[in-house]
Amino acid sequence: MTDKPRIILDCDPGIDDAFAIVTAARWAEVVAITTVSGNVSLDKTTANALRLRSLIGSNFPVHAGAHEPLEAAPLSAGHVHGECGLGGLDLPHSPEKPDSSDAVEFLVETTRKEEGLHLVPIGPLTNIALALQVDPDLSKRVSSITFMGGSAGGLGNVTAAAEFNIYADPEAAQVVLHSGSPVTMIGLNLTHQVQVGTKETETCHSIDTPVGSAMAYLLDFYADFYRSHLGTDTGSMHDPCAVLAVTHPELFTFEKRYVTVEVKGQHTRGMTLVDERGAGSDSEPNCRVAYSINPEKAVSLIMQAVAEV
Ligand code: BDR
Ligand code: CA
Repeated sequence: MTDKPRIILDCDPGIDDAFAIVTAARWAEVVAITTVSGNVSLDKTTANALRLRSLIGSNFPVHAGAHEPLEAAPLSAGHVHGECGLGGLDLPHSPEKPDSSDAVEFLVETTRKEEGLHLVPIGPLTNIALALQVDPDLSKRVSSITFMGGSAGGLGNVTAAAEFNIYADPEAAQVVLHSGSPVTMIGLNLTHQVQVGTKETETCHSIDTPVGSAMAYLLDFYADFYRSHLGTDTGSMHDPCAVLAVTHPELFTFEKRYVTVEVKGQHTRGMTLVDERGAGSDSEPNCRVAYSINPEKAVSLIMQAVAEV
């Protein structure tokens, strides 16, 4: 028996998704991975999940999910993660196939068989929204839906107002936020506090295992993006923060807030609007919003996962 939290990681690997998979494999009990179209197309995110599973020697099931958003036109982030999603990483394609191509049914059925799982979506929220539409009671059966996306304070990365995972499928994010489930938002306001750079690349290199070398390569590729596009020496390690919010909540501060998604705005579509009025607010909080994290400890747990997984 383990007292690690049992999670389903819904992801679109993705460089920081790869770090989230490694972090989850070390610090959580990964019940399964479900994949979604996001950073790159569904066939690539699924292939990457299978490749990463082989790399770390795990055997959790992988279920492929939605290949397009609920309503929005598909969006990708190949300029951040490379055309294959893992920056051209030289990692063999797994001969294994996904366990199913119906992540939505898997989510519904698995949460019926086992209550209290944590859903950790770190890509567009399409699969989770579809599962909630098929079976709204799913919202009551999970311990949390802890997603990476959005931001408190109106900060965006795809547009001035919108973060990628929410912008990619705003209607899905709206379904999740208003599902009545215990939802936690790990937004850019939080993930920008967790920066990685040359030091972490060197740490991964020094681990000197296939996982360490692969992670060092991914960090190098990511560095090219933030140096050339953002003009910074370090980049944000977004997705592992959602995993750590479940496995190490003591590193975080959270506040309950009313959060909704702008689905119409001409300039603000995909923005998460967080009501910060506190006692003066007329809306009931529907979300736990993460505001701060111990960044040194977070990075050290991620690096420890790379070393020990
Ligand atoms: C999010 O967008 C994706 O590109 C990353 O994998 C992360 O989930 C950050 O905005
Ligand atoms: Ca992601």
